[in-house]
Amino acid sequence: MHQQIDAATSYLSGFGNHHSTEAEPGALPVGRNSPQQPPLGLYPEQLSGAPFTAPRAEQRRSWLYRVRPSAAHGAFRMVADDAWGAALDVATPNRLRWDPPAPSPDADLIDGLAAVAATGERPTAAGVTALTYHAGRSMDRVFFDADGELLFVPVEGRLTLFTEFGRLEVAPGAIGVVPRGVRFRAELPDGAARGYACENHGAPFRLPELGPIGANGLANPRDFESPAAAYEVGEEPTEVVQKFAGRLWATTLPHSPLDVVAWHGNLAPYRYDLSRFNTINTVSFDHPDPSIFTVLTSPTDTPGTANCDFVIFPPRWMVAEDTFRPPWFHRNIMNEFMGLVLGAYDAKAGGFTPGGASLHACMNAHGPDAATVEAATAAELKPHKIDNTLAFMFETHALLVPTRAAMTSPGLQADYDACWNGIQARFLPKG
Ligand SMILES: [Fe+2]
Repeated sequence: MHQQIDAATSYLSGFGNHHSTEAEPGALPVGRNSPQQPPLGLYPEQLSGAPFTAPRAEQRRSWLYRVRPSAAHGAFRMVADDAWGAALDVATPNRLRWDPPAPSPDADLIDGLAAVAATGERPTAAGVTALTYHAGRSMDRVFFDADGELLFVPVEGRLTLFTEFGRLEVAPGAIGVVPRGVRFRAELPDGAARGYACENHGAPFRLPELGPIGANGLANPRDFESPAAAYEVGEEPTEVVQKFAGRLWATTLPHSPLDVVAWHGNLAPYRYDLSRFNTINTVSFDHPDPSIFTVLTSPTDTPGTANCDFVIFPPRWMVAEDTFRPPWFHRNIMNEFMGLVLGAYDAKAGGFTPGGASLHACMNAHGPDAATVEAATAAELKPHKIDNTLAFMFETHALLVPTRAAMTSPGLQADYDACWNGIQARFLPKG
């Protein structure tokens, strides 16, 4: 094991803030990024998450002060042609739903990721890939994703992501985001872990605009946490794997690449406890569009059209009068991948379980199942708390195509359409 040295176990608060953190006193240079003789003999290196000339509000970059520059490595060799089983099946209008994937006790997090649907075969600059993961052991290698940032949604078991920027512990009920290109090792303190991931190939996730909601609400910036600097020292060979253009490539270093002693900047991994989401909803009738539940958004160049919205359906009070309270029937221009972290989802009486997934494509109708329609139509509309639930959605304007692996998975439910059977016509023609 590499020796791991922390200056602090605390986190740095704020979304997109410019943080400064050092695991050894005096490691950060003052007033310049790359002095001729950096403090403590460290090597400065800039990690850019936006083009140099991006508008200031879009700019993301951090300066890393490390034991050795990242450039010191040999050639990468290709080790997997189809990373995470992302080869696509036929684009289908059919509504699809899966049971949770089977455990894979021998897999580390990188082995255990499995693509369910993606917006392209080998996307690198736009779109998303929706994945599940099931891992049984900690990584003894280091990984980075050149194809996009990774948003993890744990369902069972914590993920301790030891990143170049420090240690980020992500428990079920929280999310963790690792920016594109950031090296990390995932340790599993609870022994096994499963959940979901979104590989975002487009613009990095950010907080949505709030419009008439005002200055507060939804996910508040101060509740996002980035790790304080921590680093490893040691001369043990370390395999570094990267995902690049849909393939995995590997090389071996004579040391750990997690050797950043100090950093400053506004590009960093972060976590967010979803129970801190300030849920906004109606206090009169109907309920707003589910965009009201957006935690993070990856925009496109078209205002209001997301490359990906990360949306949650958390515990909340239902108080609307004269209202069908579950999600209504709908047909959307957007494409929806849904997962469930905890409990049950209020549009489905059964069949959608924690760790499972559903996929609803552009313009294809879905909504509450027959049992939910019947119950919600007859319900007495007292204030009611939906508790013990946490569902989420990766929603994208681009068509999500299921992978071949997902379409041949034993978890694919053959009878999903049947959940809408039995919805009776209630209209009686006059005369
Ligand atoms: Fe939907």
